[in-house]
Amino acid sequence: MASLRNDPYAALLSSPLGKRVVDSLGLPQPTKLRRYAVDAPVLDGAALIGGLGEDTPIADRAKALLETEGVEIGDPFDTLPVAAVIVDLTAMAGPADLERLRAVVAPSLKRLTSSGRVIVVGRPWESARTVEQAAAHRALVGATKSIAKELRAGATANLVLVAERAEDNVEATLRFLLSGRSAYVSGQVIEVGGTGNGDSLLLPDDWTQPLAGKVAVVTGAARGIGAAIAEVLARDGATIVAVDIPAAGQALAGVANRLHGTALQADVTAADTGERIVDHCHLRHGRLDIVVHNAGITRDKLLANTDEARWASVLDVNLLSILRMNEAILGEGGISDHGHLVLVSSIAGIAGNRGQTSYGASKSGVIGLTQALSRDSAVQARGITVNAVAPGFIETEMTGSIPFATREVGRRLNSLQQGGLPIDVAETVAWFSQDANAGVTGQVVRVCGQSLIGA
Ligand SMILES: NC(=O)c1ccc[n+]([C@@H]2O[C@H](COP(=O)([O-])OP(=O)(O)OC[C@H]3O[C@@H](n4cnc5c(N)ncnc54)[C@H](O)[C@@H]3O)[C@@H](O)[C@H]2O)c1
Repeated sequence: MASLRNDPYAALLSSPLGKRVVDSLGLPQPTKLRRYAVDAPVLDGAALIGGLGEDTPIADRAKALLETEGVEIGDPFDTLPVAAVIVDLTAMAGPADLERLRAVVAPSLKRLTSSGRVIVVGRPWESARTVEQAAAHRALVGATKSIAKELRAGATANLVLVAERAEDNVEATLRFLLSGRSAYVSGQVIEVGGTGNGDSLLLPDDWTQPLAGKVAVVTGAARGIGAAIAEVLARDGATIVAVDIPAAGQALAGVANRLHGTALQADVTAADTGERIVDHCHLRHGRLDIVVHNAGITRDKLLANTDEARWASVLDVNLLSILRMNEAILGEGGISDHGHLVLVSSIAGIAGNRGQTSYGASKSGVIGLTQALSRDSAVQARGITVNAVAPGFIETEMTGSIPFATREVGRRLNSLQQGGLPIDVAETVAWFSQDANAGVTGQVVRVCGQSLIGA
């Protein structure tokens, strides 16, 4: 697995000679992003918290969370550095209230430290009571994405839309966005709602082990992003069942053994793989709580040159197999109530990509599947969440084989001006997999450093 640390290009960039070359070419120097460590604080500096009016339910919860974690709450009137600014605009009634966003965020931007965080909070505009209210809350999307594009030095901005009466469900999302877990997530809109079946959330005893006692299946786990997902879910307390094709058996066994989990050799396109996964989990581990549909392939070619077999293989591995496996996984004796399904899409499924019609179709289909399944009444009644992660340019063997110039463009065309690491995708998957996150379902979060490609 390649990383920026052992990437010769990144090493060249940080050498004095490289720096001169880069400056003369006008290529920006990527900032080393703050990433999660078990013993690191949620935030490595003070936080500013602002809001509109007296009723600021999320600001109040953010303040309580940060105080529990020993994070200092900064003074809005001084000029000392701050690691985060959180602005709660849930009370906005119309566009005039947007001034509060400017008033809180504008003066704090100059104070924001490297890998700082801007978190804007509003309400889902679809459930607004008036047209004015809908306009104001929808305006936060464009505002937050623009702020994210103005930030420098690895800082990110994201928007959280919290439904009424779901205010108590926001903690896991705030923790994720404040911490280094969201290093490569920027310009995203995340909706937090009620739990599907009205049950209240289960908060973990220990936030460093939010998946303790859970059994998680990861497909395509032998290498790349899948191996990183398995590693992060295990770090967060889950027992791992690593699934991959027999040809990857040795690497698969290596991942499973390292993480003290088990390996299951299976092709996701085989008719009985769903049942085999369910049987394996119950026989070997007594339960199944989390399934990450990560296995995926590309067979890139212009559509004019794509034959039926090439088209079918991509659609079968990336999309149809998920539908087939879900029949067993969501069937009787499959995944537990309050379980979590996480699907791996791609920004190619959002923006499309030349030469990737089959891949774009499959990954866009994954988004449709995610959104529809999350709204399925039986799935909701069981409190099961279904979410998708859409990676942008991630440093893996797959992207490592792209020709140098194309790779450089792909790697740098985003607000953080660098490629992401497999662990960045894995952190988002792990957050989706938390019981404390049961209010987040049907969401598609891009892990792309706010890629300029697509939305
Ligand atoms: N690398 C990126 O930049 C990027 C960007 C967007 C999305 N993605 C998606 O992330 C996921 C992982 O990508 P990666 O870069 O780690 O790819 P990868 O090729 O390094 O790993 C994919 C793994 O899936 C396994 N796999 C393939 N077909 C399978 C099948 N039929 N049954 C079981 N396992 C199978 C492979 O053996 C491999 O271990 C894929 O769904 C990919 O489309 C990757």
